[in-house]
Amino acid sequence: MRYGSGPQVLRDIDFYANKGEFVSFVGPSGCGKSTLFNIITGLLKPTAGSVRVNGQETTGHPSRSIGYVLQKDLLMPWRTIMQNVTLGLEVHGVPKREARERAAALFDTYHLAGHENSYPGQLSGGMRQRAALMRTMVTDPDIILMDEAYKALDYPLKIQLETELMTTVKESGKTVVFVTHDIEEAVTMSDRVYVLKAHPGEVIREFSVDLGTDSLQIAERRSAPRFNEYYETIWRSIGATNSGDGRNQEKSA
Ligand SMILES: Nc1ncnc2c1ncn2[C@@H]1O[C@H](COP(=O)(O)OP(=O)(O)OP(=O)(O)O)[C@@H](O)[C@H]1O
Ligand SMILES: [Mg+2]
Repeated sequence: MRYGSGPQVLRDIDFYANKGEFVSFVGPSGCGKSTLFNIITGLLKPTAGSVRVNGQETTGHPSRSIGYVLQKDLLMPWRTIMQNVTLGLEVHGVPKREARERAAALFDTYHLAGHENSYPGQLSGGMRQRAALMRTMVTDPDIILMDEAYKALDYPLKIQLETELMTTVKESGKTVVFVTHDIEEAVTMSDRVYVLKAHPGEVIREFSVDLGTDSLQIAERRSAPRFNEYYETIWRSIGATNSGDGRNQEKSA
């Protein structure tokens, strides 16, 4: 993948995510994670290669099965939070009243109750990010792509939403593809983790994660027997990719 006549951004990315699987991408800033997600969701057409969703070629076209939480929240400033959250449902032709009812059920979970009629400009970055998450989750997509979706959240809420996401994925057989700079988050949630290097972005390692616990509680998964081992190995492999661009990868544990 190239942008115009610029340098190659991604090369030979061959990746899959099965139904019910939670797959993460980690790698230094600028290695092409958001570019890859824009390609998967059809917002960008790759200069080479193809994307298949449920066996159908979707290269360059959005797939209705995919919900995408972008790295930037992209809320519409002239619509209230409720109107932003119901936008995707309205686009899918869900009647307004039903859309509002479905959205209303999420405001408590995402700690935004009371802000239904606020405008994005009146909310903090983390609150806007939660509204963007709700806008995707309310459409109940089979495949969910999240690009640093939990970055701006405080820790207890992050743990709560991570646990809910994991439970939803495992109970309903959804597929999540996830980008994060937080290795702890990648290890606690993922079935598999792809490590990318930059310039051009390429997969250098793929890990299958088995923490040795069936618990879906994030706090319990963090204290699982093999957590530290995966954390260390993935952290080291990201360090090995480092071309001076991976400043975000400092160890936080
Ligand atoms: N619209 C664009 N036009 C030209 N170059 C772009 C464009 N978007 C991204 N790039 C370049 O492509 C490369 C990959 O960018 P991308 O945003 O995919 O990285 P990333 O891995 O998501 O980084 P981060 O972790 O900082 O979000 C970077 O070198 C970036 O400058
Ligand atoms: Mg990005």
